[in-house]
Amino acid sequence: MNIKSTHLKLKYKNLEKLAKDDLKISHLMKAESDRLENFVLREGPLRADFSKQLVSQKTLKSLKEFAAACNLEEWRAKLFAGEKINDSENRAVLHMALRDIGGSDSVKENVRSMRKRMEKFANNIRAEGKFNSIVHIGIGGSDLGPRLVADAFRATADIKFDLRFAENIDGASINDALDGLNPKKTLIIVVSKSFTTQETHMNAEAAFKWLESELGVNAGKHLVAVTANRQGAIDFKVPEEQIFDFWDWVGGRYSVWSSVGLSLQIAFGPSLFGEFLKGASKMDLHFRDQPLHENLPVMMAIIGIWNRNFLNYSSLAVIPYSRNIRKLPAFLQQLEMESNGKQINREGVYTGITCPIIWGDQGTNGQHAFFQWLHQGTPGAPVDFIAVLKDSSGRPEHHAALLANCFAQSEALMLGKSKEQVLQEIGDGFKSDIIAQQKTFPGNRPSTTITLDNLTPYSLGHLIALYEHKVFVQGVIWNINSFDQWGVELGKVLASNILQEMQTGTEGKHDASTSKLIELFVNSMKNS
Ligand code: F6P
Repeated sequence: MNIKSTHLKLKYKNLEKLAKDDLKISHLMKAESDRLENFVLREGPLRADFSKQLVSQKTLKSLKEFAAACNLEEWRAKLFAGEKINDSENRAVLHMALRDIGGSDSVKENVRSMRKRMEKFANNIRAEGKFNSIVHIGIGGSDLGPRLVADAFRATADIKFDLRFAENIDGASINDALDGLNPKKTLIIVVSKSFTTQETHMNAEAAFKWLESELGVNAGKHLVAVTANRQGAIDFKVPEEQIFDFWDWVGGRYSVWSSVGLSLQIAFGPSLFGEFLKGASKMDLHFRDQPLHENLPVMMAIIGIWNRNFLNYSSLAVIPYSRNIRKLPAFLQQLEMESNGKQINREGVYTGITCPIIWGDQGTNGQHAFFQWLHQGTPGAPVDFIAVLKDSSGRPEHHAALLANCFAQSEALMLGKSKEQVLQEIGDGFKSDIIAQQKTFPGNRPSTTITLDNLTPYSLGHLIALYEHKVFVQGVIWNINSFDQWGVELGKVLASNILQEMQTGTEGKHDASTSKLIELFVNSMKNS
């Protein structure tokens, strides 16, 4: 990490020294009798158990001191005060204001009136009975959050609409979303903060044509836009009264709480959405008001820093043992990697190692795919296990098996299995020594287990806000701006140039490999 101040450097060096200690999680668990007291934090329905991390109490104390010395409290105060901490874009970062925390009076007023408008609109659509389907078109932050929440409650809440999503520019995405729907009964909601995103534009155009083919001049009545670029939506011919704004101080990946959640409001009703906001809001208060040493997002962030910067793990696996939130790894991929996947700090200098790769899949599916690597591969990865204690499937015996698997995996990662244990099991025989070696589990692999008492809109709000604030804390420690995303721009520009070349048949200047790929495509078009 690129650190200027001497006292911070000393703290960092001390942590590097601690990382060289040859510790075993299982020994720490036995030796530190108060380990659970110090490594478990709870807020409402969410309990996070960090005790299976490769962190001693001594290290934890040093990590907390290091985080505090990064001026974390000052940055947290700036965040909640609405200072323009997204300095490369000269914007405040106020997604918490969407949950009624922080923001100036005028921000609060804007949020309140937008929420009222959304609720009224949602209630009208629900009452009218004119629509039976909703197609939500958007990508990245304009897709992942609403999709995660929709999937979380599809099976358990009272959903009145066939709610579908189209995100990819691949024509298969909008085809799937519209398949079998009746344009007369379908509401299309186009969600794009910028209203310039290529994928969303093409999908929206396709959907509009689909509406027009059946409804003619009335197609616009079935079109709604959610955007921070009102003019862009007007130019797209969305009726003004069907445009829902949000603001530049809401980052795309932090926007599910805004009018971006309109499709959720309509499909599930405003009260579910309200509970979702309340859950997040309670986590905001926890993050804002709890001292650093008892603060859930801070704890999660410093453990992540420890694993990334000191134990050199380059990835973090997120495994929800809840099919209903199987989209969580994809959501967190954007939240964490688009926020902190950077290498230049706030002073424009290389900052060193930052955000790990975030990846994962639902448990137990992952167990039959990549868990082999987690247990015996090199070097493995820390895991966030997420489990919901209360069953919502109506099949308690499945639920018990699901959670048994979750708890067993974290135990197995920690304990491993020695060669001696294996030899005892397999006994002396053909190639027993080699086989025993292969059947050995190194163990000592770190994990956190987060449990939600129940999967409710409130607890999901808690969980997402926890990760949001964790990302903020890590950004402060790495001294980067977590709220811009310049890294996505270059590819967009090149794609638009290449598309133009393909369409006009002009030859651009490219490397040999790219030129050949373009040529292959152009030829395949000629032959089709
Ligand atoms: O390309 C990245 C990105 O800008 C994300 O940050 C954003 O969530 C996504 O594209 C969609 O952007 P928009 O909401 O402006 O269509």
